[in-house]
Amino acid sequence: AAKMIRVEPSFNDLDSLHRAVREHDGEGLTPTGVTPVPGEGPQDARLFFIGEQPGDQEDKEGRPFVGPAGQLFTRFLGEAGLERDAVYITNAVKRFNFTPRGKRRIHQTPKAGEIDVWAPFLHHEHRLVQPEVTVTLGATALRGFFGRPVKLGEVRGEVIELPKDVGGVCVPTFHPSYLLRIEDPGQRKVEEGKFLADLTRARELAAA
Ligand code: URA
Repeated sequence: AAKMIRVEPSFNDLDSLHRAVREHDGEGLTPTGVTPVPGEGPQDARLFFIGEQPGDQEDKEGRPFVGPAGQLFTRFLGEAGLERDAVYITNAVKRFNFTPRGKRRIHQTPKAGEIDVWAPFLHHEHRLVQPEVTVTLGATALRGFFGRPVKLGEVRGEVIELPKDVGGVCVPTFHPSYLLRIEDPGQRKVEEGKFLADLTRARELAAA
């Protein structure tokens, strides 16, 4: 049988890429009726942040990082001396995946197949922005950006030099929703400190 050929999408600007994202059905891997959420931010941004996938709130508003994790993330950006409007913010997966529970929609961690569906969009997005510094937030972002499983625990806090044809460096850190899940106040403080240190380092590297 003929092998399916996945044609790489090609985009000359972010607007046409965002349009393609909004029209994408996620290849049937996510529930119908959700709103694909494109990235946002200036094409000449020096910093490029990659999250996991839109959550309930992001799906309703059609914008990335506006729910509880997004608000925490936005606050930490400010603490690290970064303006949200000046950086590029996107997700590895562009559609909200959930299981319904009564009236609530419970977030589902994206599977590898779903991450792979969206990876070409992420890579084109990255190529168009050509940031100095890429910050992956959590394991899904790492998997989508590098195209293979990478253990966050082994690379968090490091600065990864990216291949010449990609350019810049990558600073892998936690996903902000991880911070929201920590119940022990002492441990939460420690992890928040690491998160802030990673964002601050990313800002310094982009300014260098
Ligand atoms: N909001 C997003 O847009 N992405 C995430 O990964 C989490 C919350």
